[in-house]
Amino acid sequence: MAGFPAALSPRLRKASIWMLYLLGLLPAAWGFWLGATGRLPGNPVKEFEHLLGLWALRFLIATLAVTPLRDLSGINLLRYRRALGLLAFWYVLMHFTTYMVLDQFLNVAAIVEDITRRPFITIGMAGLLMLVPLALTSNNWSIRKLGSRWGKLHRLVYVAAAAGALHYAMSVKIVGPQQWIYIAIIALLLAWRPLRPYFNARKRRRRPPEKPA
Ligand code: HEM
Repeated sequence: MAGFPAALSPRLRKASIWMLYLLGLLPAAWGFWLGATGRLPGNPVKEFEHLLGLWALRFLIATLAVTPLRDLSGINLLRYRRALGLLAFWYVLMHFTTYMVLDQFLNVAAIVEDITRRPFITIGMAGLLMLVPLALTSNNWSIRKLGSRWGKLHRLVYVAAAAGALHYAMSVKIVGPQQWIYIAIIALLLAWRPLRPYFNARKRRRRPPEKPA
C-alpha cells in the first residue's frame, strides 16, 4: 500500500488525480440535485449550505492528514495533497456562494453586517480569505517562483483549518459530539506539526544501519 501511488504509471497517476477531483465534487453535485428536486429535508438551502461547509472541513482534514499519514504509516499521498486542498477551497467557496446567493439573496448590507457583527461568520470569512492565496499559489509556477517562501505561506492552511473548526463550533447553540469530533481531529493534526521533528528523529535512530553493498 505504501508504494501505491508511486507504483502507478504516470498516465494512471494523472488520471487518479482527475478522478479524485471528480469524486470530490460529487457530494456537492448530489446535494444540489437533491435540493433542486425538493428531496432535502427541512430548509433545503440550510441543508445544502451545511453539507458544503462540512465537506470543506473534511477536505481540510484530508489535506492536513497527508503528512502524518506518511510519517506514521509510510503511505505517501503527497501527489493528491494539492487536489485535496483545492477541493477544500472550492467547497468553502461554494458554501460562501450559497450563503450569499440562496441564503442572503445577495443583500450586500445584510452580508456585510453578518460578517462584521456575528463572530462565527467573521471567523469563517477569515478562513476563506486565508485559503484564497493558497489556492492561487497552488500551481507549479508559483511553487518555483516563491521557493522557500511557498512553504511558509502554505502554513496558513493550519490557521484556516483552526478557523474552520472554531467557526463550526460557534455556528451551533450547543457544541455536540459531532463538533467535538471535528475539533479533536483538527487539533490532533495541528499538534502533529511541532511533534513531527522529534518523531522522525526517533524513527531514524531506530532504523537498522544499512548493510554495505
Ligand atoms: C474555512 C472556511 C469555512 C468552513 C470550513 C466552514 C464550515 C462550516 C460548517 C462545517 C458549518 C456547519 C454545518 C452544519 O451545521 O452541519 C458552517 C455553518 C455556517 N457557515 Fe461556514 N464555513 C466556512 C466559511 C464560511 C463563510 C466565509 C461564511 C459566510 C460569510 C460561512 C457561513 C456559514 C453560515 C451562515 C453557517 C450556519 C448556517 C446556519 O446554521 O444558520 N461559512 N460552516
